[in-house]
Amino acid sequence: MRVLGIETSCDETAAAVVDGDRRIHAERILSQLDEHRPYGGIVPEIAARSHLDHLDGLIAETMEAAGADFADLDGVAATAGPGLIGGVMVGLMTGKAIAAVHDLPFVAVNHLEGHALSVRLTGEVPFPYLLLLVSGGHCQFVVVDGIGRYRRLGTTIDDAAGEAFDKVAKMAGLGYPGGPVVEAAAVGGDPARFELPRPMAGRPGCDLSFSGLKTAVHHVLATLPAGPLSDRDRADLSASFQAAVADSLAGRARNAIAEFRRLAPAGETLVVAGGVAANLHLRGRFQALADEYGLRLVVPPPALCTDNAAMIAWAGIERLRAGFSDGFDAPARPRWPLEEVLAAAAE
Ligand code: KG4
Ligand code: ZN
Repeated sequence: MRVLGIETSCDETAAAVVDGDRRIHAERILSQLDEHRPYGGIVPEIAARSHLDHLDGLIAETMEAAGADFADLDGVAATAGPGLIGGVMVGLMTGKAIAAVHDLPFVAVNHLEGHALSVRLTGEVPFPYLLLLVSGGHCQFVVVDGIGRYRRLGTTIDDAAGEAFDKVAKMAGLGYPGGPVVEAAAVGGDPARFELPRPMAGRPGCDLSFSGLKTAVHHVLATLPAGPLSDRDRADLSASFQAAVADSLAGRARNAIAEFRRLAPAGETLVVAGGVAANLHLRGRFQALADEYGLRLVVPPPALCTDNAAMIAWAGIERLRAGFSDGFDAPARPRWPLEEVLAAAAE
């Protein structure tokens, strides 16, 4: 089975050709970071136009690098949501057109399902598993029972963790995107220098919250000398913030693990996926947590954590194998919760 995957839901234009035996034949990712950087965040209109300008050429390059013709494919998978609707439409329409012209099965992939199944692209990870999906747009604990079978245990009630990294980096003048710049700035910093809250600590349930933490950082910044931060302050603040996010996620994960054990007693695996899972400090915290609970921790390599098309192709492969495909009437969805994925396929 060989599938072309297309991803355009946010600020990465991406295409990949992936085989059913987990081989990524070719992969291209074009980041729009430089186009959005002047605005300190993603501008949807710029994103949509950029996807439109680059996607065709990127797919042609990917196919050539894979040494594949469209006729060699067994399917086309494109992200159909959730995401910025203009960009989603560009990728979805392109995927449908390729599938229609070459008479191939088409899969409209939920971007979150792409992240959720990305660990199975790199190795054997049996269902069920507990997933912390932690990215710029999403932050949730999910029990993954199988393809299209997701139970959400909790979600952020305000900002996603990646969004908090991005906003804090912007406030502190560290640059964009926030995750990588904060992680780099935190090296050698004192994580105990600034006292920051651990949002939701000690509360029942698995919901998350990061806006209070962001506000606390704002107050800390007000106590520091005006102007650019000193190297010391930058490192200490980044380390303190990063530790607070990791502590908060790890603390809430304890409740999620208890729920997971109750709902899926056969489960033995904890998965962390999404852009923030690239953070090494967070990985370390979750490794310790998994060890404590006797769970196996699986985190995709950083390049598969942030947005990419290989995970979309892989989700397409998994769905085709499970007998799902979509019609050319599959809609682009700005909002598309993971729990609604199976229902959508059965419509
Ligand atoms: O999964 P992703 O590429 O896009 C979404 O679906 O949201 O995640 C992007 C998010 C951004 O907020 C970025 O700041 C964050 O992931 N991120 C990180 C790191 N690398 C990316 N956060 C913390 N540490 C990192 N190393
Ligand atoms: Zn994503």
